[in-house]
Amino acid sequence: MSTPLDHFGYRRGTFSAEKVSLSKLAEEFGTPLYVYSKAAFSEPFNQLTQALGDVPHLLCFAVKANSNLSVLAHLAKIGAGMDLVSSGELKRALRAGSASSKIVFSGVGKTRSEIEEALAASIFSFNVESISELSLLSECAMAVGKTARVALRFNPDVDAQTHPYISTGLKENKFGLDRSEILKIGSQKAKYPGVEISGLSIHIGSQILSLSPFEDAFIKTKRMAAELEKKLGHPLSFLDLGGGVGITYDREKPPTIAAYAKLITKHFGSKSDLKSRYRILLEPGRMFAGNAGVLLSRVLHRKPRKGKDFVIVDAGMNDLARPALYGSYHGILPVEKSRGLGKQSKCDIVGPVCESSDCFAKSRKFPDRLRAGDLIAFLSTGAYGMTMASEYNTRSRPAEILVDQGHYELVRRRETFEEMIDAEVIRGKLK
Ligand code: LLP
Repeated sequence: MSTPLDHFGYRRGTFSAEKVSLSKLAEEFGTPLYVYSKAAFSEPFNQLTQALGDVPHLLCFAVKANSNLSVLAHLAKIGAGMDLVSSGELKRALRAGSASSKIVFSGVGKTRSEIEEALAASIFSFNVESISELSLLSECAMAVGKTARVALRFNPDVDAQTHPYISTGLKENKFGLDRSEILKIGSQKAKYPGVEISGLSIHIGSQILSLSPFEDAFIKTKRMAAELEKKLGHPLSFLDLGGGVGITYDREKPPTIAAYAKLITKHFGSKSDLKSRYRILLEPGRMFAGNAGVLLSRVLHRKPRKGKDFVIVDAGMNDLARPALYGSYHGILPVEKSRGLGKQSKCDIVGPVCESSDCFAKSRKFPDRLRAGDLIAFLSTGAYGMTMASEYNTRSRPAEILVDQGHYELVRRRETFEEMIDAEVIRGKLK
């Protein structure tokens, strides 16, 4: 699995993305700045494709992890499908050139207009999460004379052993349908004439570091598929096994791509009891994007305190929400290697936002030499970094750069203040 320094590292003393110096990018585009490596997205995609061998499959990138249009266009170009959860993400995927026949629509709260839009786009499948959603989808499809292909999202009640906020496969989580609901749908399929139930989908959580929850979920899904087929009286054609494989942020040892693919092959490949009967869809997000990006930031001030200094940087929790939200770890390196030499002392690396949770690292050893004006890089921020950024404190979100070997391109500029307030009015008609 990818590690933080696969595509980033020191080159002639300066931290670089592939062959491009981050200090040069900071000069040209300012900070905070997300910088992505193009090769870092393709590598896990290609590895997983190869490792799945003869398992008929489609890899649908989870757009929520990184939805920059250029990133999506790159992934679409190399053959990835897209997994999305909103009409905004659908528009992005289509704009980036994704084939609608490779798009799956997940999400627990699809609206009527989102369903209509996805029907009009003729996407591959809807991953349906409730009986009420299935009725609505059937009704919408009938209204436009279409049949919607559906995978029922099964909640297998498996503990993914990850952060509770990103655990989705337990019965207490809001996601998916339980066994009895799925069987009920199977025996009452005539109630839903606008849909064709062709698959099951699961997604048990994110940043999962062991294969055993996946295996438990796969076994339960196989059993569920057989039961559903009996009720339906026809076979399913595909299973969507979701995303969730973890990456290395610090010292974690997530399953390798080869091991993950081997598990899938064992349960669904040509030598399994199912004999490659189902096309397998996967929805990786973090696995493709997590270690494909860094967030570049500049130190604004250093505030000495007894016991530890505060290093105040120009990126805030609005730019990178993960540490504030999940207490998550990101490696932090000085861009100029020389600034990392010498004595180190405990520091809190904090942002400028007016909240104490605006803290990226607590009591972490940092070089004494690092001062105002120096650049630092937050590692492993390619997934759920920019997509979770906000304009809190009326701060524009970071710009984004995509690096390809020695070349780089601004793939999203920072919004201006005027753009941030464009949709607002000072006085409406209400008194
Ligand atoms: N499919 C579905 C239905 C999902 O809900 C998700 C992620 C994925 C696929 C992709 O999962 P991945 O392969 O990236 O683990 N903001 C959190 C992560 C939230 C994940 C939500 N669902 C974070 O920063 O850790």
